[in-house]
Amino acid sequence: MERALALLAAGEVVAIPTETVYGLAGDATNGEAVARIFEAKGRPHFNPLIAHVASMAMAETIAEFDPLSRRLAEAFWPGPLTLVLPHRAGSNIHPLVTAGLDTIALRMPRGFGSELIAALGRPLAAPSANTSGKISGTTAEAVEADLGGRIELVVDGGATQVGLESTIVKVEDGALRLLRPGGISAEELEAVAGTKLLRNNSAGIEAPGMMLSHYAPGAAMRLNVSAVEPGEALLGFGPTRVAEAQKAVAFLNLSESGDLREAASNLFSHMQALDRFGARTIAVEPVPHAGLGEAINDRLARAAAPRDS
Ligand code: TXA
Ligand code: MG
Repeated sequence: MERALALLAAGEVVAIPTETVYGLAGDATNGEAVARIFEAKGRPHFNPLIAHVASMAMAETIAEFDPLSRRLAEAFWPGPLTLVLPHRAGSNIHPLVTAGLDTIALRMPRGFGSELIAALGRPLAAPSANTSGKISGTTAEAVEADLGGRIELVVDGGATQVGLESTIVKVEDGALRLLRPGGISAEELEAVAGTKLLRNNSAGIEAPGMMLSHYAPGAAMRLNVSAVEPGEALLGFGPTRVAEAQKAVAFLNLSESGDLREAASNLFSHMQALDRFGARTIAVEPVPHAGLGEAINDRLARAAAPRDS
């Protein structure tokens, strides 16, 4: 607990036991810590992460609860249920956790995880503790074998009780939708909710892990530019500027020093800030593809993709 707290407070990531699977945890309010999570997992995409809380009071500062979601939280928290809720404006969650979405996945774990979060006094972002594409670790040995070289501490809490990930649900217009089956069964949820669970049909797009509505700015995005065109805002990367950069109507740098971790942590907030500025197009300087650069480029490409309507 002491070592985990010290590392988390310093912005490092720590593998911790939860009742479902081991989580790769970092301070959800610290963008560089969240970037380190993606780096350690080797995730090619910035999927939104679950924010883990230790109390209903902490949860209320982060998300807005409708009556049904509140009833489910009261019935199943702490426990293997994740609720997707509207993200509360002004919460201290770093935008990289939600990947720029206006909803947030929240859960209150049982046992060590909750004690750790309460002691830290801040929510923890934690995906399952496994390299991207591998199965979730349910013992400290499995996590150590997979991620040991990349993280400083795996807290050994023995084999997890539930052994599979939390069930993810979302309330939509008073109805309850299952986004991911997991440790709490549909029957248990339906008994408390008093309604049938809606399941993703073939048209369902919000299957977690697949992808989700992506953050897309109102402005058009032009990637890998070599020069700024009149009227464009500029999203930069690194110490040197492209041609005509001084003509940009607004400018923000993902990382002055060219640090990909810093760039990842600034990505969504900088896109949003330039978008709010109101330029028609955001020109983006090239970002290298190494390491976290792959995920950054993936997100930029999605943000630049043609929109429906
Ligand atoms: O049991 C668990 O849930 C474990 C432990 C560590 O808490 N965590 C876990 O996290 O399984 P992860 O990142 O492996 O899976 C979280 C899923 C992802 O598929 C992600 O797409 C989805 O939650 N998710 C996160 N935020 C979302 C949102 N706002 N809307 C829809 N899905 C979301
Ligand atoms: Mg996972």
